[in-house]
Amino acid sequence: METEWIRNLENEENKPALERAGQILQQGGLVAFPTETVYGLGGDAFNPESSRKIYEAKGRPSDNPLIVHICRISDLEKVARDIPEVAYKLADAYWPGPLTMILSKQPSLPKETTGGLETVAVRMPDHPVALALIDAAGGFVAAPSANTSGRPSPTLGKYVYEDLAGRVDMLLDAGQVGIGVESTIVDLTGDVPMILRPGYVTPEMLEEVLRKVELDPALAAGPLPDHGEKTLPPPKAPGMKYKHYAPKGEVTVLEGDNDKVSKRLLSELDEQLLLGRKCGIIVTEEMEHLLVERGFDLAKISVKHLGREGDLEAMAHGLFQFLREFDDEGVEKIYVKGVDEKGLGLAVMNRLKKAAGGKIIEV
Ligand code: TXA
Ligand code: MG
Repeated sequence: METEWIRNLENEENKPALERAGQILQQGGLVAFPTETVYGLGGDAFNPESSRKIYEAKGRPSDNPLIVHICRISDLEKVARDIPEVAYKLADAYWPGPLTMILSKQPSLPKETTGGLETVAVRMPDHPVALALIDAAGGFVAAPSANTSGRPSPTLGKYVYEDLAGRVDMLLDAGQVGIGVESTIVDLTGDVPMILRPGYVTPEMLEEVLRKVELDPALAAGPLPDHGEKTLPPPKAPGMKYKHYAPKGEVTVLEGDNDKVSKRLLSELDEQLLLGRKCGIIVTEEMEHLLVERGFDLAKISVKHLGREGDLEAMAHGLFQFLREFDDEGVEKIYVKGVDEKGLGLAVMNRLKKAAGGKIIEV
């Protein structure tokens, strides 16, 4: 199939494309679309054949359930049942927005969409194109992130095209997304709400609405080194057990104060450059100054700029894009300083640790 790549969606002449995209979904086709977090690969949530196509296009194991995207809170009960009061409170506070809730599924929702589970992941994205598409499609769009399995989630239309050209009918390209990391997933089917995947909606924000919220213990334990390892508790979101967000280069996370990290960074870079390896760093302005002050020639490596120290939004926004750029540049060794696992830092470190496959150095 040929993928129709629609850009400049804000232009009047491209408006009909949204209607067509809705029809494609209603007829069982696939459409990639922007959300406020990352791009999604959408199919009709009530069509089992569409869900099968999504797994195939992504090369994703079919036991890894999809998120059902809706555009009206009143549609929640059409996909979920026994909905607790807290779900509506969370929806009031954070929908549309980067929050996914796990609830008991309606029997009418195909098991292909939920990876065979009796629960369903639901969210209402905060993006005008996403909301218009869901509406045009009839209200229920199943969508994982629009990357091929194992690659960083796409934050730009061109990365979706790179991964999925020829495997989706249409790509709605609205440029760079706002947040850059996937939604927070909170499981509301147990006694105490549990965060299965950290995201832009932080534990602190959830606690403003919920009396208590727990973190899936598997998150604290860090990522599984590889598929088969069974020594750690399995994460409750099936997707979190897979190796993920991995760029081709090897990522090392350095933790410690700027002074120590910059010294270690210099010795690591010198060593790797001597070995002839292509190196890249993701740095704050402060760290960059330290490196230059100590006489390092930044022109020898690939440098990705974050804002100032502590700007976690900039880190979330740029992380996946930087990892993909390093791939395109053939960077073999990637270094980045870790952040505090507080607030949005929890989501950023979760993605970083996965990208690093557990390679974290305390200096
Ligand atoms: O921000 C996002 O959430 C993006 C955009 C496109 O909405 N979507 C996204 O989907 O990140 P995906 O498929 O890449 O990640 C969904 C995660 C997976 O780890 C999956 O295992 C988990 O949600 N999940 C889905 N349904 C679940 C369920 N019923 N119980 C537990 N985990 C579930
Ligand atoms: Mg994904």
